[in-house]
Formats: sequence, C-alpha cells, structure tokens
Amino acid sequence: MDQALDITLTVNGAQVTRRVAACTHLVDFLREELGLTGSHLGCEHGVCGACTVRVDGEIVRGCLMLAVQANGCKVETIEGLSDSGELAALQKAFHGRNALQCGFCTPGMLLAARDLLRQNPRPDREQIRAHISGNYCRCTGYQAIVDAIEDVVHGQG
Ligand code: FES
Ligand code: FES
Repeated sequence: MDQALDITLTVNGAQVTRRVAACTHLVDFLREELGLTGSHLGCEHGVCGACTVRVDGEIVRGCLMLAVQANGCKVETIEGLSDSGELAALQKAFHGRNALQCGFCTPGMLLAARDLLRQNPRPDREQIRAHISGNYCRCTGYQAIVDAIEDVVHGQG
C-alpha cells in the first residue's frame, strides 16, 4: 500500500484537508476526491494540457504534479475561475466564435489563454498561438480559438 499523507491546501478559495496516497496526482485528487471534474485527463503525460490548473498563480499540468506537492498551495480550477467571473470575457468570446466542439480541451485552453492575458494583455496572433501551443485540440483546428482570444485582446470578447 502506498504511503498516505495529510495535506491542507486552498482550492477555489476554500481550505481543504485530506489524507492522500503519496502517488496521487493533483488532477486525480481534484476530480476524484473533491469532485472538481472540469479539469480533464487526456494524455496523462504532460503533453495535451487538458489537465491544466493554476497553482499559486502559475498554470501547471495537473497530471504531472502530485497532490502532496500542492500542500500549502493555493489551487484554482476552471470551476473557481468561472464562478469568480475571471474567465467571463474569454468564455463569451469562445462561445461567440464557436471555439469549442466537444469541449474536452476547453477548460485547459481557457486557463492557458487567461495566463497569457495576465502576462501580456496585448499579445499578437503569433504570441497567442505560441502560448496555447501546449494545449491540444482535436476538433477546432485552433483558428476559432485564436480568433476568440484575439477578440478579448481587442475588447470584443
Ligand atoms: S492530461 Fe495532463 S497534459 Fe495531458
Ligand atoms: S473542442 Fe474538442 S478537443 Fe478541443
């Protein structure tokens, strides 16, 4: 049996304490232990970006980080960032541009896009492409996603 450890972290503004197996990945902890299923599991190898969450202000791959590594950290997921309204402009623009089809990539894509706009509120199209290049989408061909992010940059989101 894997070693279990007690962790305390803040998830979407609420303090959470749980005993977790040391090998539990953060995205599994969020999904299975806390029921926050908006962060998705795709490749489980750090490639696709579907599991993107924010830890202490930085986006990370939830499939590469262990839950115990988030002990003491502030974790934000698509659920919390949606509820707070932080993603509202991006969500509206994604909707307006049909920038999602199955939606599997969308939570990670929104977090990556928001991360870019926090760092650089006026990215050009190439910078948008570069920043979301670690988030795979199997449906849209990316064009509409870049258009949607560009709309927010230009205040049309
Ligand atoms: S599931 Fe984490 S990067 Fe693909
Ligand atoms: S909308 Fe289906 S993977 Fe992106």
